[in-house]
Amino acid sequence: MSAQPKDIRVDDRHPDVEDTLETVRRGLGAKIKKLPSRLFYDERGSALFEAICEQPEYYLTRTEIAIMRDHAGDIADVIGPDVRLVEYGSGSGIKTRMLLEHLETPVAYVPVEISRTALMESVAELAMRFPNVPMQPVCADFTQPLRLPVASRSPRRTVIYFPGSTIGNFEAKDAVKILRQMRAEMSDGGGVLIGVDLKKDVAEIEAAYNDEAGITRDFTLNMLVRLNREIGTDFDVDAFRHRARYNVLAGRIETSLVSTKQQVVHVRDEAFSFRADEAMHVEYSCKYSLDDFAQMANKAGLSVAQVWMDEDRRFSVQYLVRSTPVVA
Ligand code: AVJ
Repeated sequence: MSAQPKDIRVDDRHPDVEDTLETVRRGLGAKIKKLPSRLFYDERGSALFEAICEQPEYYLTRTEIAIMRDHAGDIADVIGPDVRLVEYGSGSGIKTRMLLEHLETPVAYVPVEISRTALMESVAELAMRFPNVPMQPVCADFTQPLRLPVASRSPRRTVIYFPGSTIGNFEAKDAVKILRQMRAEMSDGGGVLIGVDLKKDVAEIEAAYNDEAGITRDFTLNMLVRLNREIGTDFDVDAFRHRARYNVLAGRIETSLVSTKQQVVHVRDEAFSFRADEAMHVEYSCKYSLDDFAQMANKAGLSVAQVWMDEDRRFSVQYLVRSTPVVA
C-alpha cells in the first residue's frame, strides 16, 4: 500500500450516474450514434490506456517522453521560476515528473482529472517525490469551466500542461474552445505547454490504434462494460467490434464501436436499436501539421512561442502564449 500524502484537498466534482445516463441517452438517441471518449476512463479503462502506451505500435507516449527527456531543461527555462503548473488530466506522471524535476521553485502543482482513482494515485506518487511542491488536486471535468484553488505563495505565472495529444480528442471547434478556456485560466504572462501528435504515414498512424495485442480493442470495448456496470445498460459486449480508421481529409483517427448484428440495447426504460454494421462513434484522435496547429491556436488567441520535436518529427511539445494584442 502506498503512503497517502497529507494536506491534499480534493475539489471533488466527479460526475454522477445521472450525468452519465443523460449523456448515454442523448448519444444513443442521435441519428448518428456517438458516445464521448471521456467515458473510456474508469479504473480499468485507465489501466488499459497505460497498457496501450507500452505497445510497440503506439509511438505517441514513447516519443513524447523522449522529447521531454531531451528538452525538459530547455522547457523549464522557457517556463521560468515560481510557476503554478496546472495539468489537464493526470497520466502516469512520468512526463510531469520530468518537468517538475527541472522547474525552479514551482509554487504549486494542480492536476485536474476526472477519474478520482487516477488523480489520487498520481498525486500520491508525485507528493512523495516532490515534498516541497504543494499539491492541489482537482477532481473535475476540464472541459467545463474550473475554479482553480488559490496557491499559498503567489505564482509568477500559471502554465497549463496538457500532454499526450489529448487535444486531438476534440473536434476543431471544441479544441479551440478548450484552448480559449486555457488562455483565460492562465492569465496574462502565462502559457500552455501542450503535446501535439503530428501528421505522418497513414499506416503508422493506423497501426497505433490497432495494436497486434488487441489492447486498444479491449480499451474501446471496455466503455460498454463500464456502462453496463455503472448505469445498468445491457450492451452485449461480444456483439460489438472495435474499428479505428484514419480519415485523411479530416486528418484524424476515427474510432467506432461497430454492431456486428441487428440488436436492441436498453438504457433503463428506453430501447435503442442498432442495425447490423451500424457504427457508434466513440473517439477522434486528430493529427496536425505544425501549420494546422498554429492556425488553431491563433483562433483561440494563442501563438506558438516554441516547438520541440523528436528527430523523425512524429510528435511535438509546444509552448503557447497569448497572442500579442494588436495596438492601434
Ligand atoms: C490519450 C487521447 C491521446 O487519442 O491517442 C489511445 C487515447 N485512444 N488509443 C489517443 C487513445 C486509443 C489517446 N489520447
